[in-house]
This record gives sequence, structure tokens and C-alpha cells, in this order.
Amino acid sequence: PDVELFARRADFDAALAHFAVPGRTAVVMTMGALHDGHASLIRAARARVGAKGLVTVTVFVNPLQFGAGEDLDRYPRTLDADLEVAAAAGADIVFAPSAEEVYGSGEPRIRMSAGAMGEGYEGASRPGHFDGVLTVVAKLLHLTRPDFAFFGEKDAQQLVLVRRMVHDLDFPMEIVGVPTVREDDGLALSSRNRYLSAQERDTALALSRALFAGRDAGLAAARSAGTPAGGDTDGLVQVGSPGAVRAAARAVLAEAARLEPPLVLDYLDVIDPESFTEAPEDHTGEAVLAVAAKVGSTRLIDNIRLWFG
Ligand code: PAJ
Repeated sequence: PDVELFARRADFDAALAHFAVPGRTAVVMTMGALHDGHASLIRAARARVGAKGLVTVTVFVNPLQFGAGEDLDRYPRTLDADLEVAAAAGADIVFAPSAEEVYGSGEPRIRMSAGAMGEGYEGASRPGHFDGVLTVVAKLLHLTRPDFAFFGEKDAQQLVLVRRMVHDLDFPMEIVGVPTVREDDGLALSSRNRYLSAQERDTALALSRALFAGRDAGLAAARSAGTPAGGDTDGLVQVGSPGAVRAAARAVLAEAARLEPPLVLDYLDVIDPESFTEAPEDHTGEAVLAVAAKVGSTRLIDNIRLWFG
């Protein structure tokens, strides 16, 4: 398999004009350092548009979404390896522009605003982050003109906000969410995992362990409350009581705070995906159990989807 690489928007645009297939054009946006989570998005894109469709992968480390003191300068850049991963997963084109190519000299004066949904959780720890994300996603949607754009559930708040932007501002494409890819031991794949030492990685396993403990406690709560299993839960595990879910997950994280090196918790919560605010105790329907924590100097996030019956 082979991919065509473009760094200039004019060249990319010419390729798009030539190869885009009406109704069968997909994009997967990334910051590079591609791993199997990204590959899963690319495979989903290929499956959606078929062998004759066009799948573009963008590789761009967007300065606008990094705060002062974050890892913009040391964010991994591995374009050669990325081309291999993109090709093997079924991409046709990789668009990897420079910051100047995307923004010109200087920063854009006009930006997207995520609004209140971008202020909690990731947004609380990373002020302005989602305005930067939505600004570049809007630009890349214009540059790539897809029928379908694929985003990972791993970044739950980002996915909800991108869906909301496309809905609220009438962008003419469909946003498709793709389940989180994990290592066998539960760790969610992330470009930032490569920063972890072996001991830090052991501690980091507490994130997914906490989520699964929360889900199991929720299942037990649903059973003891006699909640009838089944019904239309969109394929999600039906659980009871956000409080029980939260408590079980918190217990795992409290234990991990005593490990060496320790897990330093940022947030853990059961979240209503409509508003991206805390789900009340009587919440019903879909919810996201999300966690963010630091291990050493690496900040990690993870989440699972649940259904409260
Ligand atoms: P990045 O962190 O490179 O992620 C690119 C896409 O891959 C996102 O949609 C993310 O949710 C998805 N992804 C990451 N890890 C995953 C995993 N383990 N399983 C499934 N999908 C996974 O997210 C960004 O880049 C940027 O914010 C971007 C949208 C490109 C805008 O700059």
C-alpha cells in the first residue's frame, strides 16, 4: 500500500479536486505519532467509503490547542513512521502542513468558541484548549471537504464538541465516533504513552482499572435494584446509580495515589454527554465515566460509555 504525502495546501487541493469521490470522501484528523487507535479510525473511514472512496489523514500538531507549559515542543513527531501506519490502515492521502501553511504568519484573529461545554473537565484544566481544537477542526474540515470525519471516543469531550459545532453551525458532513482502542491490559492507546517509564505505566493502568471497577459496581447496583436488563441501550452496558459507579472508581484511584510513582487525580466523574456536565443521581440514558490524571509529568485521560437504566 502507498500514500501520497502533501505539505502544501495548493498541492493537496489539486489532489482532492482530482481524486475526491462525491459522497465517499473521508478524513481522519491527527497530530501524528500514529498508533493503533489512529489506525482504527483510518480503517473505519475506509470501511465507510469503500475501496473506491478517498481517505485523507491529516497530521498537524496544532499550536492553538496547547497551553503555556504544555508539551507542544516535545510532542512526538514521527512523520515517516506515520506514513507507514496510514498506508497500512488504508489511507490514500496524508496532508501534513506546517503551522505557517495552516495559519499563515501569526495566529488567526477569528476563532471558534466552544462555549460552556468547553469549560468543564478537560477545558477546566486546559483553558482555551477546545477553542483551539474547534478552530483547527473547522479549518481542516474546510480544507479537506469530507462527507465523513472520524473522531475517537477516547477524547469524549472533543467528540461531543465537534459534533455540536457541526450541528449548530451546519457544517455539511457527518461526524463518526470510533471506540477506544486499548492494550491487552486495559491502557488506552495514546501518543503520550511513550513518555511513560515502566513504573509510571504500571501506575497509569489504574485509570482503566478504575473505569472498569465503576462499570462493574454499576452493574451490581442495577442487579440489586432489580433494573430489568435489556431494552434499547445502544449496545451499552446498563448500570444503576452514578453514585455507586463513582465510588467504586474513586476507590481504585485512591489506592493508585499511594503507588510509587503516585497517580495524581485531576477529575473523575459521571457525565451527561448532552451538556458535558456532571450527571445527577437520577440520570437515565447514556453517560460517560471519565477520568484524567497525571503520572509523573504525563497527563492521561480515559473514559467509558455507560447506560443508566
Ligand atoms: P490526536 O490526539 O492525534 O488524536 C487523533 C484522533 O485519534 C482523535 O479523534 C482521537 O480521539 C483519536 N484517538 C486517539 N487515541 C485513540 C484510541 N486509543 N482509540 C481510538 N481513537 C483514538 O485529537 C487530536 O489529535 C487533535 O485534538 C485533533 C482532533 C487532530 C485536532 O488537532
